[in-house]
Amino acid sequence: MPQHERIAIMSGNAHPSLAEKVAAYINRPLGNIEVSQFRDGESHVQILDDVRDSDLFLIQPTSPPVNQHLMELLVMIDAANRASAGRITAVLPYYGYARQEKKTQGREPISAKLVANLITVAGADRLLTIDLSAPAIEGFFDIPVDHLSAIPLLMQHVAALQLENVVVVAPDVGAVQRADRARQLLGGVPLAILFKDRPRPDEVEVQGMVGNVDGATVLLVDDLISTGRTLIAAAEMVVARGAERVLAVATHGVFAAGALEKLAASPIERIIITDSIPLSGPS
Ligand code: R5P
Repeated sequence: MPQHERIAIMSGNAHPSLAEKVAAYINRPLGNIEVSQFRDGESHVQILDDVRDSDLFLIQPTSPPVNQHLMELLVMIDAANRASAGRITAVLPYYGYARQEKKTQGREPISAKLVANLITVAGADRLLTIDLSAPAIEGFFDIPVDHLSAIPLLMQHVAALQLENVVVVAPDVGAVQRADRARQLLGGVPLAILFKDRPRPDEVEVQGMVGNVDGATVLLVDDLISTGRTLIAAAEMVVARGAERVLAVATHGVFAAGALEKLAASPIERIIITDSIPLSGPS
């Protein structure tokens, strides 16, 4: 059978509309699979197509509810293995737990590594993901990882806005590489870097800044927005340092409860994200 005919694409419950778009883009039908829950909350999967020897792509961002979507993915991989799929690629446009990639204090887990182990042990042959918070997570896998970036796509969108006097700002040190790539794609505009501290989980304090944003249109570049506190604190800091306008781009719009309202009330005039996670709430 020719390679392209062996390709099968299936979706869990996390983001079926993205899976449909991917299938349509490569002109393949979306495969038939039932992903449901027993009354006690356990996940159940039944693959309804013959996937023997297929090149199977399981699309499932592990977005909120993270644990449910992760478990669904693991059960899908197990079902595909037992159905003798030829190669199983777990496609996680958003990799939940990516921010727990190291211990920040004693007696903490490294949950991003645990998730890598779970996906591998479940039987995935390959992982495809986008803009991991910490690129080192790729090394947590002993199977091949395709780590893609949405930054070029996001910068195409930004370039079309024809902004003037742009300074790209990394809202924390971990975002510098991504922000540097963004500024290069915008033709080598200046870069500024903020120093962020997290006194407690989900709390943010900006301690300082390197670079000049006086009179600039600031473009904050981050991998994800959850509570929105990182971007809001960053926006307040650059406005205090003389920025005239503030826009933000991020690959993953997680938007925890209350985040959209807080962001709407912040100095950020526009936020550009991808559809790696299904969008809910006001758009
Ligand atoms: C790491 O800190 C990430 O790059 C993001 O800046 C962060 O996770 C965003 O989270 P929040 O929106 O809750 O501040």
